Amino acid sequence: MSKVEVLLEEERTFYPPKEIVENSNVKQWMDAHDIPDIETLYQRSKDTEWFWGEVEKDLVEWYSPYDKVLDSSDAPFYRWFTNGKYNIVHDALDRHMGTPTEHKVAYIFESEQGNVTELTYRDLYNEVNRMANGLKSLGVGKSDRVALYMPMIPALPIAMLACARIGAVHSVVFSGYSPHALQDRIQDSGAKVLITADGFWRKGKVINLKALADEAVKGTDIEHTICYQWAQVEVSMSERDIWWHDLVAEQPDECETQVMDSEDPLFILYTSGTTGKPKGVVHAHTYSVGVALTLKWVFDLKPRDVWWCAADIGWITGHSYIVYGPLMLGVTSVLYEGAPAHPEPNRLWEMIARHGITVLYTSPTSIRMHMRFGDEWTQKDDMSSLRLLGTVGEPINPEAWIWYYENIGKSRCPIMDTWWQTETGSFVISPLPILPLKPGSATRPLPGFGAEVHDHEGKSVVNEGGSLVLTSPWPSMLHTLYNEPERYVEHYWTKSGDFISGDIARVDNDGYFWVQGRGDDVLNVSGHRIGNSEVESALVSHSSVSEAAVVGRPDDIKGEGIAAFVVLKMGVEPGDELMKILWNHVGEEIGKIARPDIIYFVDDLPKTRSGKIMRRVVRSVLVSKEVGDISTLANPEAVKEIEDAVKHNN
Ligand code: WTA
Repeated sequence: MSKVEVLLEEERTFYPPKEIVENSNVKQWMDAHDIPDIETLYQRSKDTEWFWGEVEKDLVEWYSPYDKVLDSSDAPFYRWFTNGKYNIVHDALDRHMGTPTEHKVAYIFESEQGNVTELTYRDLYNEVNRMANGLKSLGVGKSDRVALYMPMIPALPIAMLACARIGAVHSVVFSGYSPHALQDRIQDSGAKVLITADGFWRKGKVINLKALADEAVKGTDIEHTICYQWAQVEVSMSERDIWWHDLVAEQPDECETQVMDSEDPLFILYTSGTTGKPKGVVHAHTYSVGVALTLKWVFDLKPRDVWWCAADIGWITGHSYIVYGPLMLGVTSVLYEGAPAHPEPNRLWEMIARHGITVLYTSPTSIRMHMRFGDEWTQKDDMSSLRLLGTVGEPINPEAWIWYYENIGKSRCPIMDTWWQTETGSFVISPLPILPLKPGSATRPLPGFGAEVHDHEGKSVVNEGGSLVLTSPWPSMLHTLYNEPERYVEHYWTKSGDFISGDIARVDNDGYFWVQGRGDDVLNVSGHRIGNSEVESALVSHSSVSEAAVVGRPDDIKGEGIAAFVVLKMGVEPGDELMKILWNHVGEEIGKIARPDIIYFVDDLPKTRSGKIMRRVVRSVLVSKEVGDISTLANPEAVKEIEDAVKHNN
């Protein structure tokens, strides 16, 4: 195996404003602990016992204290906060009662149709308790699994917290998944109750969710389906189906929180691998420590902030940073039901103005989509309330970073490019609002976390592409794969005890990490391994390009050639001339070796529901293999686009 070539060099550096640095939560913590500078913090945090023992004090409350911060005796089955008695819902809700937070707004909810409702921490507490009692009345108890298939409405966090309160394990399945995907996940987790809704709004249309749920439960062990009435669509209710409002009607507002052990599972969240069946990632109640710390330090949340994590709760981002993290910190979050550019491209920006949002966390895909609409859409609304921005999900192209910085943050707001995974539970490699930023780099592993880039011999390398591994355990780490402990060990851990992320990255001389994408998304051109995302970034850096997917295609001479599928900005005409220009542009940006052998112009690229470009699908079409399972695609019609483009050019 040869080295991964480093082709894209980004030279620009951005410094956070002084007021942000001086008032930041991380700086305050450093001052309180006599830590003079960030380098000292990075160093001292390598003492795991001390660091996590010290930070948890400000973040969580125990029913009874733990013995040890970390027990590694059964690694990689690490045990955190051994023998502590705990429940995350105590921190998210119970402890706020009787404090000023009790009557503070927890969620500002906006429906796609534009209705706004506010729920205080007290409202949420009461609703969660009623639902927890309702679940108990159906016989749900500690360690039972409950599947959730719900839209982005307050009932979803309420259902999650109700499960957690009674010690049940929730398994949220994204509402955009097919009945088949839901069924697989129900079966794998052995859930006996499913919570869903009648329907929800998406791009002005109502999706009948209950009908999909009905199809999924056939042949499973689901004993009851609880249905939340939301979109008022007609649904069929069988004998084992119960309306949410009927279930909770007579239930009291109080429900005792189940005392859990530190290691007890909080949820299962399925994530797809490149091969095999989805992996049921298990997180424990004490994952809270990592989630709360990272949110508090990276996004620097203060009591007056209005936080908007514009992800779906069906993904880990929503679990950690819409539900558990913000509630633990007692902040006000925005929750939005619908599509990001509906009815007009400025929906997000309008919402920032309407709710006075101060911190926005979104994805590169969303940013690139908005770039495509044109800058004028970002100039209609007053976004001066913003002070920090964030991104997650895939490498952000430097051009998209700069666009976000200038057009949304108006060159005032630092961008927190957070690298993490379903498996890590919380941010791992991420800026702090006191660090200089380089567009396209997620900067450095946060204090308390460790990462390195390894070559194929497992040696740590600098300025060379390789495999991104995590070198020390962390409290929000996955505990195992549900029912597959051997797969957990084999898939994720090297013999020498490092966690394999599956991503390809490079560390520069300043210790900054540049994540290039998944390991299976690496091209091999004439023996040079090139990250697909680097070629894509080069294409997107051209003013006529909005999005690009780059995949390999068999080439007799080079081993692998490069094919690029390019979506142009609105109003730009495709043609041979432009093809030549882009080809040259990539050559200039990252070198001749990376110039695409062929460029296809298309109107859309196949994407997962979380917005990741599905290169696997693009590649399968290109080399005329079976496309395989596309049930998880957000836009299956894009596959046809690729097929047509390929056919047309051959
Ligand atoms: C990718 C999402 C570059 C990466 C939280 C990772 C990123 C996968 C970034 C996990 C980032 C996430 N820069 N790549 N800031 N954030 N990724 O499990 O390939 O849905 O392995 O978790 O997304 O995706 P997952």
